[in-house]
Amino acid sequence: MANNKFLNKKDLAKNKEKNVEKTSDERLYWRAGNMLYPLPVVMVSAVRGDEKPNIITVAWAGTVCSDPAYVSISVRKERFSYDIIKESKEFVINLVTKELVRATDFCGVRSGRDVDKFKEMHLTAIESKYVKAPSIKESPVNIECKVEKIIPLGTHDMFIAKVLGVTVDGKRMDEKGRFELNKSGLVTYSHGEYFELGKKLGKFGFSVSKKKPNRKKQKGGKK
Ligand SMILES: Cc1cc2nc3c(=O)[nH]c(=O)nc-3n(C[C@H](O)[C@H](O)[C@H](O)COP(=O)(O)O)c2cc1C
Repeated sequence: MANNKFLNKKDLAKNKEKNVEKTSDERLYWRAGNMLYPLPVVMVSAVRGDEKPNIITVAWAGTVCSDPAYVSISVRKERFSYDIIKESKEFVINLVTKELVRATDFCGVRSGRDVDKFKEMHLTAIESKYVKAPSIKESPVNIECKVEKIIPLGTHDMFIAKVLGVTVDGKRMDEKGRFELNKSGLVTYSHGEYFELGKKLGKFGFSVSKKKPNRKKQKGGKK
C-alpha cells in the first residue's frame, strides 16, 4: 500500500527535482510537468522578408500525422522566432548530429535579437526548395514546413505545419542507395542533457518477426 506522506523540508532540499510533492516507499509523485523523454532536439530556421534568417533550438517538436505528413513545434511567444514563424508561416526543421550539438545549444540560449546565429556558429544557410526559410547545410535532414494552424496552449503556442518537402545529405547514402540516418550521430535531448543516439536494439516489428531459418542446421538436417 502506498505511503503518501509528503517529503519533509530536509528531503526536499536533498532532492534536486523541485517539483517533488509526495512519496510512497518506492515511487515519488510529482506535479504535472514535462517528463516525456528522450526527445528529438532540432534547429528550426526561419526568415521574415529580407531580414537575416534566424535559428531557434526546439525540443518540443513532433510528428503528428504520417500522411499527409504533419509536424508540430511549440514556441513561446517571447522568442524572437515566434513572430517570424507566425508572420512568414514557414520554417525548416534541421536535424542535429553530434557535430552540431554545440551550435544547437548556442541557438537555444542566445537570441536572434542580439546575434546572427548562422554567423556565430559558422552554419551555412542554403536555399530551400519549397519555402523561403533557409535550410542549414550542415544538417543531415532539412524538413520544409508550412504552418497551417497555431494552437495557443499556455506558455507555448503549438504550430502545426504541413511538410512540403524533405532534403537529405546525399553523402550519407550507402552503396545500395539507403539513407544511413542512424549512423550519422543523431542527437537526442533527455531531461536537460544531450546524447548521441546509441546502440541499435532491434528494428520495427522485430518482436513478432519469424526467425530466419538456420541454414547450416537445415543442411545437415531433414532432407
Ligand atoms: C535544448 C533546448 C530546447 C529548447 N526547446 C524550446 C522549445 O521547444 N520551444 C521554445 O519556445 N524554446 C525552446 N528553447 C529555448 C529557445 O531555443 C531559446 O530561448 C532561444 O534563445 C530563442 O531564440 P530566438 O530568440 O532567436 O528565437 C530550447 C532551448 C534549448 C537549449
